[in-house]
Amino acid sequence: MLGKLVLIAAIAFGVALKLGFIPDVLTGLSSNHDHSPLDRDLQPRESVDADGVVREKDAGTTGGEFKFEEDGDIENDDYAQSSIYAILYAMYKNTPNLVSPLGIKYQFTFNTWGIAPSPYPVEDPQRHGKAAYAALVTQPPAVEYAEKLGKPLEIMEIGCGTAAGANLITREVWPTSKYLALDMQQAAINTCNMIHATPDNPGLTCQLVPNGVGNDGNKAPREDSSVDFVVISETHIADIAIGDLEKAIFKEIRRVLKPGGLFLWGNAIPTRVWEEADVALPEIGFELVNSFNHTKGAVIARDEDYDRVEAVMDQLLAPYPVMKLPYFGERCHKVGERLIANFYRHPGTALYLKMVTGYDSYMHQAWKNVK
Ligand SMILES: C[S@@+](CC[C@H](N)C(=O)[O-])C[C@H]1O[C@@H](n2cnc3c(N)ncnc32)[C@H](O)[C@@H]1O
Repeated sequence: MLGKLVLIAAIAFGVALKLGFIPDVLTGLSSNHDHSPLDRDLQPRESVDADGVVREKDAGTTGGEFKFEEDGDIENDDYAQSSIYAILYAMYKNTPNLVSPLGIKYQFTFNTWGIAPSPYPVEDPQRHGKAAYAALVTQPPAVEYAEKLGKPLEIMEIGCGTAAGANLITREVWPTSKYLALDMQQAAINTCNMIHATPDNPGLTCQLVPNGVGNDGNKAPREDSSVDFVVISETHIADIAIGDLEKAIFKEIRRVLKPGGLFLWGNAIPTRVWEEADVALPEIGFELVNSFNHTKGAVIARDEDYDRVEAVMDQLLAPYPVMKLPYFGERCHKVGERLIANFYRHPGTALYLKMVTGYDSYMHQAWKNVK
């Protein structure tokens, strides 16, 4: 049945491009549900652009003019995160046995672009994502904090996805830690509970926060002043601006952090948004205690990961018979491929180019809660 979801999504995309529609598949799926049945949400809506261009943007504000058909660019307001992740997590679950170009079998669990160089072996298909998580939680102030604490760390992550990073941390990086991994996608939490938060990894708990932390006043499920580290790694938080949602999330992070606790934040977002954060976080009681620009390494990671992502796109899309239909198949494949490529900042996509030009910066930062 999962196949049907993606199949219909692909048809919707193909038809959308042909007819100039943006389908509701980008906005209409619920994150609080593990989508497997065919959903009536997947209906096309109003035409937006006659030539099939999803969006053309103002070079002054977005870093360039990008077209969906060429570089797969989809702006944040073209889709609801919840819908796009519902599709992606369903696809991953539907294709549990991917094979890397080096012949290694694996499940796609890191939704992470990642950084280079990676301390993990070249044979590890998700080595750049692992490198990003490991470096984020071992920034110098975090190591110093853990050494001083002298007892297991209490960690909370917002936007854990399948909790692949949380799994790495609880098994290898900070193996005694108690880690609460939160996400707004039921499918991601299900995968976490199936393969990561297993009895042999008792430190890890995964939990759904319906509609996400900070949305509609949603709180993080932790007591005040109870957490040593809050981790956010490569979520869409703050990818346009520091707005009301970001402020609500930052407030929640500050509420749950112990005095002196650290907010460990890693992401590739517009450089100007990092500058906005530099103002917004101190205003509510955070102090920047570490900042490292990984943008060059993030571009290298995407280059090194090129063959694997190409293989992922083929393998994720191959199972769907629609891809083999005359005319529509080719278009569906192209649209699906562009969508996935853009999501992984694949070389040639708008998001990759934004890192090359420095419009987006991939930063690792540590913010101390100075209560
Ligand atoms: C790009 S994925 C990254 C997942 C994970 N950090 C990784 O690197 O594999 C972003 C994730 O953040 C989640 N997310 C975004 N905003 C959230 C919020 N406010 N509360 C909880 N989860 C959120 C999404 O559902 C999605 O699973």
